[in-house]
Amino acid sequence: MKAVILAGGSGTRLYPTTKVINKHFLPIYNKPMIYYPLSLVMLLGIRDVLFIVNPQDLEDFKNLFSDGSHLGMRIDYKIQEKPNGLAEGLILAEDYLKGDKVLYLLGDNIFFGHDLVKILKDAMLEVETKGGAYVFGYYVKDPERFGIVEFDENGKVLSIEEKPKKPKSHYAVVGAYFFDENASQIARNVKPSDRGELEITSVLEEYLKREALKVKLLGRGFAWFDAGTHDSFLEAGEFVATIEKRTGLMIGCIEEIAYRNRWITKEELLELAKPLSKTDYGRYLEAIAEENP
Ligand code: TTP
Repeated sequence: MKAVILAGGSGTRLYPTTKVINKHFLPIYNKPMIYYPLSLVMLLGIRDVLFIVNPQDLEDFKNLFSDGSHLGMRIDYKIQEKPNGLAEGLILAEDYLKGDKVLYLLGDNIFFGHDLVKILKDAMLEVETKGGAYVFGYYVKDPERFGIVEFDENGKVLSIEEKPKKPKSHYAVVGAYFFDENASQIARNVKPSDRGELEITSVLEEYLKREALKVKLLGRGFAWFDAGTHDSFLEAGEFVATIEKRTGLMIGCIEEIAYRNRWITKEELLELAKPLSKTDYGRYLEAIAEENP
């Protein structure tokens, strides 16, 4: 399994802030937004990641993550010339995936919850062994704004619709999808929607048609933020701050996860902490190294 993280887009909902800076570099409390989806990939034990980025942001992404070797990972980049929609990333990633299955993540989605990693790992295993696609539903008050999944009492998916005017449920499909090796091919056959984008919903509809789409609901105890609006951006930051202060543990700390995964040594972690030593972040990394030999 490889991961692809979509980190392009135009970020118009966060204008004027994102007129000159890509939203994925903005801080959700104490670290860039893009650390959060990357940390999820790492928690699942996936070491190969492709970032889909806008042309003008490629250098900044490379400055931030380089080739990923400092985290014990292999990080690659692919340019998306224009934000043509969420499904286009699957087409752009085709050569990279080389027939592998994929965890496909939206770069502005933030997840937190008890058992989240276990739930995602179970879904990953299912797609790895049985194929198909696996998505996750989350209750929202304003379903008109999201891709909405409808299902029967057995959890069987009945329909999936992008920003429906008359939503059939209140469950939004969150920005973390597992796909088998057919996803790029399916995405290539998707026709642009009325708003001119290649919709991820169209890819999911094709999996549904093939009876190969599964959904699991993330219920109570999960927090999901699409941090692409001013309010959700602020809420996500406040949420992370609250949890981190309460628990004394960080959310989305990529260096910590690399170390706990044993992808880097204690010496390497301390090396990463050095330039940050005047910050809480750096001191946190030092403490992690000392407390977890
Ligand atoms: P969106 O938030 O749907 O789109 P956007 O980032 O362009 O923002 P806005 O709607 O405010 O203009 O995108 C979800 C995620 O996917 C986000 O992390 C950006 C990324 N993305 C791409 O990488 N390529 C694309 O073509 C699109 C549409 C989004």
